Amino acid sequence: MTRQPLWLRCETKEFERRAALTPTTAKQLIDAGFDITVERDEQRIFDDAEYEAIGCKLVEHNSWPSAPLNVPIIGLKELPESDDPLPHTHIQFAHCYKQQAGWSSILARFYKGKGSLYDLEFLTDAHGRRVAAFGFHAGFAGAAAGALAYASQKAGKQLGLLNPYPNEDAMVSAVKETLGGSGKGVKALVIGALGRCGSGAVDLLRKIGLNEDDIVKWDMAETAKGGPFQEILDVDIFVNCIYLSSSIPPFLTRDQIASQPQRRLSVVVDVSCDTTNPHNPIPVYSINTTFSKPTVPVDGIGSVPLSVISIDHLPTLLPREASEQFSSDLLPSLLELPSRQTARVWTDAQKLFEQKQAEAVKAEGL
Ligand SMILES: NC(=O)c1ccc[n+]([C@@H]2O[C@H](COP(=O)([O-])OP(=O)(O)OC[C@H]3O[C@@H](n4cnc5c(N)ncnc54)[C@H](O)[C@@H]3O)[C@@H](O)[C@H]2O)c1
Repeated sequence: MTRQPLWLRCETKEFERRAALTPTTAKQLIDAGFDITVERDEQRIFDDAEYEAIGCKLVEHNSWPSAPLNVPIIGLKELPESDDPLPHTHIQFAHCYKQQAGWSSILARFYKGKGSLYDLEFLTDAHGRRVAAFGFHAGFAGAAAGALAYASQKAGKQLGLLNPYPNEDAMVSAVKETLGGSGKGVKALVIGALGRCGSGAVDLLRKIGLNEDDIVKWDMAETAKGGPFQEILDVDIFVNCIYLSSSIPPFLTRDQIASQPQRRLSVVVDVSCDTTNPHNPIPVYSINTTFSKPTVPVDGIGSVPLSVISIDHLPTLLPREASEQFSSDLLPSLLELPSRQTARVWTDAQKLFEQKQAEAVKAEGL
């Protein structure tokens, strides 16, 4: 039987240390008949030698453009901006199916190169649930960053560089220490609390010592009445973790914030990060923040400061645990890659790609 090739590319996004395949999952794929090629990558949390030791073939950093066209390329984050046609099959998060900035030009690259995209965000099981997602660690790390930003703001400072933590316990200890030993007394509201990101955010808030009553958990039922919501202004930290699928009234507005200088709210963590989505329910900021500058102030609301954290790759603050969890959840689908012409998870993803590509071709006038 021919072995299924798969190529793990490097990540080029600054600070990205996670990997779509870990040495653990790569080994399981090799045992199941895959040939795994791995680009050398100093940025990745796993050493090149860990992949080599379990039988992966190591190749030059960022050399996937020269890979044979029958080899699917797997990575996590989007490729660097370019107009170059893409002739390969890519498995990755491409952030171009929800009309995000630049969506049609990204899809046009696949059209011009006759390549294909299986977007990791849209690989779903028979019930429509994503087969693999980084949500839990995104919410966990986002709430941690929110608590750190809150402590900085109380001290009259701005939160500085965030570095990845070796594990969850180290993150929890660091946040508690910054808060003076515990988060007791801090009040937070998590919207989307029943989801993956939301449950991670709630878990972190519990672990740093907030009282259970001070962790307000909202999901669909509580937002059904329609925003903007006063309840958000009445907590210290608001963590937005919803999965936005349609146009909804905003959760917060600048006018609402400006009208209440006595508000309690100090920090908004927008884990959902629908920053450039036309239906962003938190239309009080317009950029994604970064690990080197994690917060952006909300302007036009008067002199009482309010910061937003809108980092779109939060799980990289816990790169090892987040990668292991994501990759093992993805593994059953990857094992079906050799039969991707018939395996539902892949045929559904292919259909969606073709539909989105057709929309992009129209939008680009190709
Ligand atoms: N910033 C990052 O690094 C990062 C990482 C991973 C995921 N995300 C994003 O986070 C979002 C959530 O992902 P997830 O995996 O947790 O999704 P999920 O589907 O597991 O959970 C989403 C939750 O939001 C709730 N929800 C949806 N609309 C709502 C509304 N109007 N009001 C209240 N609740 C609502 C749902 O009921 C669900 O409980 C996605 O947009 C995802 O792309 C961001």
